[in-house]
Amino acid sequence: MTAIAQEAARRRTFAVISHPDAGKSTMTEALALHASAITEAGAVHGKAGRRGVTSDWMDMEKARGISITSAALRFEYRGHMFNLVDTPGHADFSEDTYRVLAAVDCAVMLLDAAKGMEPQTLKLFEVCRHRRIPVITFINKWDRPGREALELLDEIEERTGLRPTPITWPIGTGGFFHGVIDRIADQAVRYTRTPGGATKAIETELTPEQALAEIGQDWERAAEEVDLLTEIGADHDQKAFEAHESTPVLFGAALSNFGVGRLLDAMVDIAPSPAPRPDVEGDPRPLEEPFSGLVFKVQANMDPSHRDRIAFVRVCSGRFERGMVLTHAATGRPFATKYAQSVFGQERATIDEAFPGDVVGLVNATALRPGDTLYEGRPVEFPKIPSFAPEHFWTARVRDSSRSKQFRKGIEQMEGEGVVQVLRSEIRGDQSPVLAAVGPMQFDVVKHRLAGEFNTEIVMDRLDFSIARLTDAESAPILARQRGVEVFTRTLDGALLALFTDEWRMRGVLRDHPNLTLNALLADTRS
Ligand code: G4P
Repeated sequence: MTAIAQEAARRRTFAVISHPDAGKSTMTEALALHASAITEAGAVHGKAGRRGVTSDWMDMEKARGISITSAALRFEYRGHMFNLVDTPGHADFSEDTYRVLAAVDCAVMLLDAAKGMEPQTLKLFEVCRHRRIPVITFINKWDRPGREALELLDEIEERTGLRPTPITWPIGTGGFFHGVIDRIADQAVRYTRTPGGATKAIETELTPEQALAEIGQDWERAAEEVDLLTEIGADHDQKAFEAHESTPVLFGAALSNFGVGRLLDAMVDIAPSPAPRPDVEGDPRPLEEPFSGLVFKVQANMDPSHRDRIAFVRVCSGRFERGMVLTHAATGRPFATKYAQSVFGQERATIDEAFPGDVVGLVNATALRPGDTLYEGRPVEFPKIPSFAPEHFWTARVRDSSRSKQFRKGIEQMEGEGVVQVLRSEIRGDQSPVLAAVGPMQFDVVKHRLAGEFNTEIVMDRLDFSIARLTDAESAPILARQRGVEVFTRTLDGALLALFTDEWRMRGVLRDHPNLTLNALLADTRS
C-alpha cells in the first residue's frame, strides 16, 4: 500500500445529522471530548447559555443561539484520523447540510428516543439514500423515558426502507438505563454517570453472571430481546450497510456520554474510509493520483477583523501541501494555497499537509464556488453538488439607491457562496432580483450580511410562490401567460425556472397544457 492509501485508510470523514434538538451539538461535543480533541464539554458549540462560543462567529448566530456555519473538527481515535464535518443545526439550513453531505463518506443519524423519526430525519435519510451515503443510526436520550426500542426499529424500517441492525442494545431505559449489550463483542457494558457528563462516562464490562446479579430483571429482558434480534437475523452486514440497504443502530445518551465510545469504535470498525471519487464522466480518480479536491462550502466573513472568504475543500486524491499551486477546473486558472487552514468555528490552525478525506479551509478564495474542483497534475472535474429545489422566494431592493453598486456586489457574493439562488426576469427588471432558498432564514442572513459587510440596507418582500420547476425556452412563454405562475432565469447557470403558488395551481396548468416541460429540481443543471 502506498503512503497515501495508508493515510486514506485511517481517515473517517463523517457528519452528524438529525432533526433539530435531537442532540447534535451535544453529540459533537461528546465525540470530541471522548477523543480528547477538547478538554471540556461545551467548548465546541456555543449554544445560547452554554460555556463555549467557539463556533458563534456571527452576531446573528449569537443572538439566535444557533449554529449557521459549517466547518470540520479533526481528532484522532484508535490510530484513526476523524474529520467530523459540522452541519448547521437549524431545519432551515438544510441546503448547507446537503452540501456538507457531498464531502463525507458516512453519516451518523441521531434520533431522539422519545420522538423517533421526525420530518427532518426523514428528509436527511432520503438525501443519504440519494447520495448513497452509509448511515449509522444512534438513538439518543435513552436516559429519558422514551419509546420501546423494538418499536423504534420497526419505525426506522417502515419509514426509510433500511433494515436496522442493532450493534448495541440498551439495558433498561429512562432513569434505569444501566448500559448496553454490545452485540459484536457479545458483552454487557455498564455505564456509570459522572457529574454533568463533562468527563467520559465510566464503562464496566460485565459477565452474564455479574449482569444478572447486579442489574437483574432489566438485563434479563435485554438479553431476551437480543436473542430475538439474532433469531430474526437483524445482524450487522457490512455489504448491506455500505450499499445503503441496512443501518447499524446504537443506543445511548450523548449528554452523559453513554454509548459515545461505542459509536467511535463502530466508526473505526465499520465506517468506510475515503474511496476513489468518480469524476463527471463516472471514472473514479485513484487515491494515489496527484491532489484533487471538491469545494463543498464557501463562507465569507468568518473573522470579523479580516472580512475574508474561505472555501472548504474535501481532499479526494493525493497529498495536499500548503503552498502548492492548484488548477481551478471551472476556469483553468491557477490557485495558490498559501493560506490553508483547518477551521472549526473560530479556532484556526495552519494546515501543512492533508490526505484524502481531510477538509482544508482555503482563505482568500474569491474565485471558488461550492461544487468546484481543484487539482494538480492530470485534470479532473467532479460532478457538481445537487442544489435542492427552493421553496421560499423574496424580492430584494436597496433602500438607498446610492448604494446600488454595493447591493449588486453583495447579492453576487451571497449567490456565489450559495446562500441563496438569484432569479431575474425582464418584467421585474434588474433593480429588484428575486432571491430563492430552501428555508426562509436564509433571507435574514442576506439582510444581515448586506448591512454588516456591505453597509447596505435592503427591503425584502415575500412572494406568494412555493414551488419551482425547471422548464425550457419552448414552454416558458406559455407558462408566463398562466395565472399564479412566473418564469425566471437563474443567474448562476441560466436555467429557466417556473414558479407556482402551490401544487394545486401547477396541476391545473399541467392539465390544460399536458406537454409543458416541468422538471423537478433535485439535480443541479450545471452538471
Ligand atoms: P441539536 O444540536 O440537535 O439541536 O440538539 P442539542 O445538542 O442542543 O440538544 C437539545 C437538547 O437535548 C439540549 O437540552 C440537550 O441538553 C438535550 N440532550 C442532548 N442529548 C441528550 C441526552 O442524551 N439526554 C438528555 N436527557 N438530554 C439530551 P436543552 O435544555 O434544550 O439545552 P441545554 O440548556 O441543555 O443546552
